[in-house]
Amino acid sequence: MCGIIGIMSDKGPAAPRLLEGLTRLAYRGYDSAGVATLAGGALHRRRAEGKIAALAEKLAADSPPGTRGIGHTRWATHGGPTEINAHPHATDKVAVVHNGIIENHAALRVEMEAAGHVFTTQTDTEVIVHLVTENLSRGMDPRAAAFAALDRLEGAYAVVFLFADEGAPMIGGRCGTPLAVGWGEGEVFLASDSYALAPLTSRVTFLEDGDRVVVTAQEAQIVDCAGSTVERPVRTSTISAAQIGKGDHKHFMHKEIHEQPAVLGELINGLVFEPAVLEALAATPRLTMAACGTAAYACRVGAYWLESLARLPCAVDIASEFRYRTPPLPEKGAALFVSQSGETLDTLEALRYARSQGQTIISILNTIESTMERESDYVLRTHAGPEIGVASTKATAAQLTVLAGLALALAGDRPDEAAALRHLPALMVEVLERETEIAGLARVLAGFTHMLYIGRGPLYPLACEGSLKMKEISYIHAEAYAGGEFKHGPIALIDEDFPTVALAPSTDPLFDKMRSNMEELAARGGKILLLSDADGVAAMGKTATWSFAVPEVHPFTAPILYLLPLQLLAYHAALAKGTDADQPRNLAKSVTVE
Ligand code: AGP
Repeated sequence: MCGIIGIMSDKGPAAPRLLEGLTRLAYRGYDSAGVATLAGGALHRRRAEGKIAALAEKLAADSPPGTRGIGHTRWATHGGPTEINAHPHATDKVAVVHNGIIENHAALRVEMEAAGHVFTTQTDTEVIVHLVTENLSRGMDPRAAAFAALDRLEGAYAVVFLFADEGAPMIGGRCGTPLAVGWGEGEVFLASDSYALAPLTSRVTFLEDGDRVVVTAQEAQIVDCAGSTVERPVRTSTISAAQIGKGDHKHFMHKEIHEQPAVLGELINGLVFEPAVLEALAATPRLTMAACGTAAYACRVGAYWLESLARLPCAVDIASEFRYRTPPLPEKGAALFVSQSGETLDTLEALRYARSQGQTIISILNTIESTMERESDYVLRTHAGPEIGVASTKATAAQLTVLAGLALALAGDRPDEAAALRHLPALMVEVLERETEIAGLARVLAGFTHMLYIGRGPLYPLACEGSLKMKEISYIHAEAYAGGEFKHGPIALIDEDFPTVALAPSTDPLFDKMRSNMEELAARGGKILLLSDADGVAAMGKTATWSFAVPEVHPFTAPILYLLPLQLLAYHAALAKGTDADQPRNLAKSVTVE
């Protein structure tokens, strides 16, 4: 997901402030970055392929002048991650940064080339600068030129324009992709989110879809899709620099793994559900659930709880399939969507389909003021705080906790499960205290190129999540199967070079079934890393090649507790492999494109 920052100010050089903002946006995932500043009636661009450090080197060697500027971190969609394709894109009249996709860019490119404009990049974004430049050449003022260009665009975008004309305002616009206004003292900022604004201001306004904003150093005028000047709420962002710093952790991911006991402790103590949410869930004949990636696995774990405890039929699907198979949904039904960012386009479109089918929309979200928040009837917050690591950890644990709480709220009197949930943070601390043990096991796993994860019941989707964590940050191929399923084919893969991570608490009703599965694997030379409690480890004996004794836990909360060793296994395997745990290759924190 690309990141945008804009500074409209007369105070001090823009370049270092833009760079700081881009550093705060790096968590979104990117493969190139750039800035453009305004000075002496001219635009000054610096762009670099790769990490922000490469851009920082260029700025250190030749910092662009000016107190106003725009910056961008690019996650390539159209055109490779090269310097030439990096934003800002510019002519001598205007520079633009863009997050999203211009669906009609090809037709616009033909039109602009016919008008004599010469394109130099493979990006969709470049059409925007030529549209604005064409409008300026026809005598439009900067605001009219930008607005007319935005009127031509189809697709999802957040854009910011910086004009070479010193008297021109900075112009921003959002359609389907977030853009926020930051209010400083005698200066105004634009950015993709409040994390980027945190070092500049805590007073933030989130634009709504269709909004445009005309920014001078003194003020910002917001214009809605009907062209009317509007006021939007100004929020005080509570995101502190400490929250979006790494503290003494090597990676954000490590910090966020360690924040989980505190996050869950707060969350569990404050778990209250609006009666209207519980009524909607009690009334729906079937609960539709959809999400992507890790959030989809959280949904699948939640469905086990909702069906087994609350007897609520659930239909779970990955959002990118759900939205296109257009399934029939129950009359007066409810649909639940889970998303850390609240901006994942596939999940958003699945939500929109469910709404079109008359479903009550409930979303479990972490990031504030997201598009999904605005399009949901009810929002259940995970309150995990900013999650900067691309691989989700604390947000996932919080999603599971909200789903577990929801199942209990619907099920009624379940004192044992409720007590187990309250006890969970303490057990997580016990696991974290033994991180060194897990790190040693992770280094062993890091020596393999393939591995299997298995679990049964809600620990099956958890095994899927464990395999995703391993894949996405250590780049080791990892597959997950239900314990009872891998003998229907995948067991052919098993030999001594294909280890299996088995999730099997002895307190789980299916432990004996998992024991048989592990024996089947061991009999074929398969090596097993067993995650169980002390009794389970003792029961399995030498069948398990390696083991980690997780504190004994109620089967209800096992999927949340076992998430922790899985996260640590992946994290330390990534360390052993030397990959970037916070910004793994090819990944973005939120996928706002299809
Ligand atoms: C999480 O580790 C992954 N990076 C990814 O699967 C993520 O869960 C997925 O893209 C959904 O994101 P969301 O929760 O912001 O919607």
